[in-house]
Formats: sequence, structure tokens, C-alpha cells
Amino acid sequence: MIEVKNLYYSYKKNGDYAIQDVSFHIDKGEIFGFLGPSGAGKSTTQGVLSGLLELQQGEIIIEGIPRKGLPDKSFFNRIGVGFEIPNVYKKLSGLDNLRYHAKLYDRETEDAMTVLKMVGLEEHARQKASSYSKGMKQRLGFARSMINKPEIWFLDEPTMGLDPNTANSIKNIVRKKKAEGTTIFLSTHNMFVADELCDRIAFIVDGKIAALDTPKNLKLKHGQLSVTIEYAEDGKLKSETFGMNGDEKAKVQQFIGDHEVKTIHSGEPTLEEIFIKLTGRGLE
Ligand SMILES: Nc1ncnc2c1ncn2[C@@H]1O[C@H](COP(=O)(O)OP(=O)(O)O)[C@@H](O)[C@H]1O
Ligand SMILES: [Mg+2]
Repeated sequence: MIEVKNLYYSYKKNGDYAIQDVSFHIDKGEIFGFLGPSGAGKSTTQGVLSGLLELQQGEIIIEGIPRKGLPDKSFFNRIGVGFEIPNVYKKLSGLDNLRYHAKLYDRETEDAMTVLKMVGLEEHARQKASSYSKGMKQRLGFARSMINKPEIWFLDEPTMGLDPNTANSIKNIVRKKKAEGTTIFLSTHNMFVADELCDRIAFIVDGKIAALDTPKNLKLKHGQLSVTIEYAEDGKLKSETFGMNGDEKAKVQQFIGDHEVKTIHSGEPTLEEIFIKLTGRGLE
């Protein structure tokens, strides 16, 4: 569906690259994630792919057709773009924001109220967006990004700053759209969002892709299963963590025999642990 080859982008055009030699593909109906810390190049990549920033160097091929310069109108009709900082017009109500944006497209659009309901803003539909909280503006921006029933949907930090319930409902909408066949490019610095939603994830740091695979394979290839044992000693609850390879397994059995064990938990590595292992950097 989308093929990206050796993409570079420099804001200053001085050889100081925000992204460099970035290559990946996204299949139709796939959720492809970019996971990386602030400044890694996630929003820049989204900008170039979505036609906000010019294609300076490298190739973007969508459904077999290579991009030349900025994309044409038919491309903009087919994509949805959710920005990191939501672009809402504060003097209009939430409903009028969506109705206005719907008019910009040369194609069938969603009913504005239906989309507002999906993001839980129906009761605030006729309030001016200036009275919305940050999270509400975020949800309105998210709603706007799907008003034109996009086939390709770009989502930049879609759950940032949202409470867990609202974040969950946003994630469920993303899953539903994927099930309907939407192709999704999602940027985040949140490993849980990436893990829960993405079919494949690229780790990005300093403008470069450091690893790319399914969340499961990233964990299997680079992580280690662990076991944490809580035990009682001298009237206190203590804990000890073991890896699960080679002689560590024997140590676990020995430890269980020698101690008054209270709980045993196995843990799989988190994506952040693997990110740190592979890149030497955390996700904050
Ligand atoms: N408008 C801009 N002008 C100059 N440099 C920028 C601009 N936007 C981003 N950058 C730089 O490009 C790099 C990548 O930024 P960005 O793509 O926003 O990262 P992320 O979305 O992963 O946080 C950073 O070093 C950032 O400072
Ligand atoms: Mg960003």
C-alpha cells in the first residue's frame, strides 16, 4: 500500500537531517507504528508522508505510484491527518468545526454529530471549542481527522494527555477503523499504545530506524522472560528477580525450595526495555 525508501528530510536544508535513510512499507489495513522519544523524527516522517512537508530526498510509492513533488487533491481526499497539537477553530462549536472541515472534501463525509458521539463530545457539540479542555480539543482534532472516511489515516500521538478511559475509547475507534480496512500510520512515544495497537513497529531515534518488527517478535528476539519471587524472611516481605535462560532456571527452582515463597510472577520484557537495549535511549 505504502512504500517508503531512503527518505531524508532537513528543515534547514543544510545536511542536518531530522530523518535520514528511513525505509519501510505499510500493508493495506495495517497499523504501522513509529515508536521513539521526543525529537526522534516521528512527526517529520508523518509530515512528509501526508504531504505537509515536501519530499526532498527518497521515494514514497503509494499503491505503486511514485510521489512527485507535493501530492495532488485526490490524495488529500483519501487521507486523514491527526496532528500532535490539534488544529481546532476555537470560535466555532465542536459541531461546526467538523461541519466546516467536512465541506473541504470532494467526497462523501461522515455525519459530524455521529463522529462527535464516537469521541464522547455529543453533549458539548454546540459549545465553542474555546471552552473545551485540552483533552476535549484533542478528541475534536481526532474526530476531524476521520471526517472524510480516510483510507490512509495518520495519527500523531493520538492518546497523549487523555485520561485512561478516553484513551481506551480512542484506541477502540482505531481498532474498528483498521477492521474496516483503513491503513494507519501511528506515531507515539508511549510503548503501551504501540504494543496494544500496532501490527508492526519501527523504533526511531535520532531520525533513523533502529529496529522494525511485530511487537511480539521484538520481544522474542531482543527481550528476556523473567520471574519475580516474593518471599518472607525475618518477618519481612522481600523479592528477587531471575532471568529464564540456562542456569537461571535451576536457580529459580533452588530458590523456591530454600525460601518461604509468597508469590511468583512471570514478566515479559516491555517494549521500552527493548528500546533501551537496542538504542541506548529511553522513550521520554
Ligand atoms: N519546524 C522545524 N524546524 C526545524 N527543526 C525542526 C522542526 N520541527 C522539528 N524539527 C527538528 O527535527 C527533529 C525531529 O523532530 P520531530 O519530527 O518533531 O520529532 P518527534 O515527532 O519524534 O518528536 C528534531 O530534532 C526537531 O528539533
Ligand atoms: Mg512529534
